[in-house]
Amino acid sequence: MERTFVMIKPDGIQRGLIGKILSRFEEKGFKIVAAKFGILSEAIVDKHYEEHIVKPFYFGMKAYITSGPVFRFVLEGDNVIATVRKMNGATNPGEAMPGTIRGDYALSIGKNVIHASDAPESAAREIGIHFADVELVSYEKIDEMQLYE
Ligand code: CMP
Repeated sequence: MERTFVMIKPDGIQRGLIGKILSRFEEKGFKIVAAKFGILSEAIVDKHYEEHIVKPFYFGMKAYITSGPVFRFVLEGDNVIATVRKMNGATNPGEAMPGTIRGDYALSIGKNVIHASDAPESAAREIGIHFADVELVSYEKIDEMQLYE
């Protein structure tokens, strides 16, 4: 089973979208195995977005992402990394298809509501940055035998 890291950004929290977004992933069949709500430290942001530190948008993005609470969680399921990226839609909401989270709820690239890992390596790295091993809960869910063949 794959796991991926997902984060609802400050704009998503302020707009009251946690429930709607979580529902999409729950209804798809993915299992929540960890979650936490709070304000990111600058050190965590630098680690999480280390590939973007040199980019011109980084300074503004860091100020915004630490401006209010975020909701972080880990989802588990078959092919969850690629599927969640598809459900989120293109990074630039102007290019995101209707029916995706960014296509339905966002208008600008800086305030694009949600982040999710883009590959198995980044998922493992990002889960490790935001969660300790003991915070990842392994359990069985009663719908699994109806979801998987
Ligand atoms: P995310 O998937 O979290 O990864 C990096 C984030 O940087 C991205 O979503 C955007 O929200 C943010 N960002 C802000 N400006 C830009 C930009 N010009 N190009 C790409 N990402 C940007």
